[in-house]
Amino acid sequence: MNRQRARLIVLDNADDIATMAAHLIVSLSVDAIKQRGHFAIALSGGSTPRKLHALLANDPFRSAIAWDKILVFWGDERFVPSDHPDSNERMARETLLCHVPIPDENIFAVGTHTPTASQAAAAYAKVLESTLGDACQFDLVLLGLGEDGPPASLFPGQCADFSADARLVKDVVNSPKPPPTRITLTFEMLNRSRNIAFLVSGAQKNRALSGVFERESTVNEFPAKGVQPVAGELFWLIDRPAYSGR
Ligand code: 6PG
Repeated sequence: MNRQRARLIVLDNADDIATMAAHLIVSLSVDAIKQRGHFAIALSGGSTPRKLHALLANDPFRSAIAWDKILVFWGDERFVPSDHPDSNERMARETLLCHVPIPDENIFAVGTHTPTASQAAAAYAKVLESTLGDACQFDLVLLGLGEDGPPASLFPGQCADFSADARLVKDVVNSPKPPPTRITLTFEMLNRSRNIAFLVSGAQKNRALSGVFERESTVNEFPAKGVQPVAGELFWLIDRPAYSGR
């Protein structure tokens, strides 16, 4: 873990994580829009982002963000239809995107209508390359931490050759967390980001968190260890139960 670049922020609870993340998004988006005219963010799946989405969908945060200059992507997606209960896109639309004035053309969902997840991954990589400019990097990637350590859909035991994978997006066919087939950004794409923020809440995350920060552990054991931005900032927004395990 490139500790000197990781900023560990321990907060009291999940609500405080969401508030801190909302302020971070407002601040980073203002800077990005001033410098480059837009703010490209990759949303996370799972349940943790729901509190953050609810904050962003309401004032004061809703009116502090220039939604017409926000480009929304996903860090991973389940290989299910976009109206499926397990869809990360569906969760984000229901909890955030349907409540803010973001133009439809600014929302870049992972197309899961292709015959295979591999085709979906290849198509999404092309979307990233054609939308994010020459550097092909996000301004911010939001990540959760699974109980056994995955960021996005990069799971333990499936990251042995992570540094050799030059792909930006890949398919996962044997996810231990259902549903089994997914599309995920790779470490190559994640680590290009200007900023990455992990949102980690709850005592059930303590083992994974301890494993990530354990000097002797490996990326294949705790894949979040492989999230090390090449030149960007890494924020760990963690609540006390996740940090202390109680
Ligand atoms: C997914 C998520 C996944 C999630 C973590 C944490 O599609 O399943 O992207 O990586 O972020 O598993 O999930 P919770 O926030 O539900 O704990």
